[in-house]
Amino acid sequence: MAERKILVVGGGGREHTLAWKLANDRGNPRVYCAPGNAGTAQVARNLDIPATDIEALVKWALAERPHLAVIGPEAPLCEGIVDRFAAAGLRAFGPSRAAAQLEGSKAFAKEIMQAAGVPTAKAARFSDAGEAKAYLRKQGAPVVVKADGLAAGKGVTVAATVSEAEAAVDASLVKGEFGEAGRTVLVEECLQGEEASILALVDGRNIVPLASAQDHKRVFEKDEGPNTGGMGAYSPAPVVQDRWWPFIRREVLEKTVAELTRRGIVYKGVLYAGLMMTADGPKVLEFNCRFGDPETQVVIPRLACDLLPALDACVDGTLSENLLRWKNDACACVVMAAGGYPGSYAKGDEITGLEAAGALEDVIVFHAGTAQRDGKVVTAGGRVLGVTGLGADLQAALGRAYEACGRIGFKNAHFRRDIGWRALQERNRT
Ligand code: AMP
Ligand code: GLY
Repeated sequence: MAERKILVVGGGGREHTLAWKLANDRGNPRVYCAPGNAGTAQVARNLDIPATDIEALVKWALAERPHLAVIGPEAPLCEGIVDRFAAAGLRAFGPSRAAAQLEGSKAFAKEIMQAAGVPTAKAARFSDAGEAKAYLRKQGAPVVVKADGLAAGKGVTVAATVSEAEAAVDASLVKGEFGEAGRTVLVEECLQGEEASILALVDGRNIVPLASAQDHKRVFEKDEGPNTGGMGAYSPAPVVQDRWWPFIRREVLEKTVAELTRRGIVYKGVLYAGLMMTADGPKVLEFNCRFGDPETQVVIPRLACDLLPALDACVDGTLSENLLRWKNDACACVVMAAGGYPGSYAKGDEITGLEAAGALEDVIVFHAGTAQRDGKVVTAGGRVLGVTGLGADLQAALGRAYEACGRIGFKNAHFRRDIGWRALQERNRT
């Protein structure tokens, strides 16, 4: 059989993780990454094509005929990259443009959840600022204001006061700070509890959940400071107790896929449910239409089997539970970020100690915002590295990840020293 080619679209920590896993699958497929980073260059061949240049990606794929294209980020999915590949006779893993609306429009996602009876925060949608403010004054604080569309993680305001919420409404509907994405807002009930990320593979009909994970969205320890793309993660997340799995499967995943199907939308790819584990049980905060970042960095290394057969099965409609097997190990990822992130930060600073860190047993240093320059690896993004450790339990996994962080240096590096604190606290309680 000819060597299989796989195209991974994207260039962050999630894509390095996917490329690393796929390159190590049986048969060692030849992995390409567009555009990739300095880490993907170690396991794949980087292509100088941005993840959002759909036409250039199709052109490359028509010439190279990859077995499968795996789409990492939401932007090309919401733009319809999978439809475009399919129309060209090319196989791509991910939802169609219509299905990706589940992430691309929070109003659409809410409408699906309300129609299907999926547990979620009570919400109303507005395009008029006056009406939105009248509604939120009636609701009182705390209250959540969300821009409808993709806003690079900046579109959600969890407001402690009514005036903060009003300012968020104005930013979106009056000042147009999120452009088209903020022409509609949702005003949502504020849920209390601990968050968890549930990622599931879906083939249009069959649903296979992946191991649970928890992300750390705030930039500073003790969950202080602004939200980021994610400062670290761990898997499994003990807050998702075994007793909740049948509920999550039935009430969240199955109901959502069934409601989409009822509307003629076939969901294939990763369905990612961001859950709040409230006193009344799990409720959906958001859906994403792709692998999470950095959740992927802690879920994928726990697989005790190849990844490609499961991704293929999603595209072909032949997904089943027995395509995935899991290690008992826990996994933890500590994100090393550039100083100043999620605000402005420097780029081009040399990163040292990568080899020494990667030489540690059960440590994988996934690259996120890195580039190669003059034979050196330099910073090239806000989230620079996802330093990942596996271990018999979370404490052991974290120990490895932090030991590895200690070997790595770059100017103004910043990372949280409390990744996994909720799970460790829980363990100490029991
Ligand atoms: P989202 O992009 O919808 O996940 O929102 C980003 C973050 O805002 C979530 O991870 C939560 O921390 C928070 N959030 C979103 N919706 C709510 C809600 N209804 N109640 C409380 N927190 C929320
Ligand atoms: N870790 C959050 C996300 O991928 O959106």
